[in-house]
Amino acid sequence: MTFYEILVLIHIFSAILGMGPGFVMTPIAKKASNMTELKHAYAIRNKLHQFVMIGGTLLLITGIWMGFLNTYLLQQGWYITSLILYLIALAAGPTVLVSSSKPIKALLKQHKGEDIPSEYFTLSKKLFFYEYLINTMFLIIIALMITKPF
Ligand code: HEM
Repeated sequence: MTFYEILVLIHIFSAILGMGPGFVMTPIAKKASNMTELKHAYAIRNKLHQFVMIGGTLLLITGIWMGFLNTYLLQQGWYITSLILYLIALAAGPTVLVSSSKPIKALLKQHKGEDIPSEYFTLSKKLFFYEYLINTMFLIIIALMITKPF
């Protein structure tokens, strides 16, 4: 097995272990029907996010490493497009995702009682919108990685 092939192997494992949990983060939060379940759902989301961060970092490192080993990749449209989309998705983390999840975390901490306040649904709508957008970018990247169309 060449070193390049080892990088491909790590890359694919990272894609499955990192992106897979990321795709279920939104549906998990949507399943909660009271405050106890909602708090638990967000605790699970936090755990899943650790997989996304580790897998996502490994994806980027191995992806760029492969590009340096096989420099023809740097001229491939699918490679550059994926890298740009990935960096946009990455930048969404500390910006729009943090700003839209902060008020939800505060609400989960402060709210007393079992009913989910209507304010939560307004806040989560915004957060889930960004999450769907980012997940769509990841789906496009996966399609580009497999088909390498241009
Ligand atoms: C959401 C993020 C990503 C996912 C889910 C992902 C997934 C995959 C998968 C499944 C493959 C194997 C495809 C195949 O050969 O049939 C692959 C290949 C590859 N990926 Fe990614 N990838 C991601 C991000 C990146 C990024 C950001 C880069 C570049 C910086 C990159 C560079 C590569 C390269 C160069 C290959 C080709 C390996 C080869 O066949 O020689 N990937 N990726």
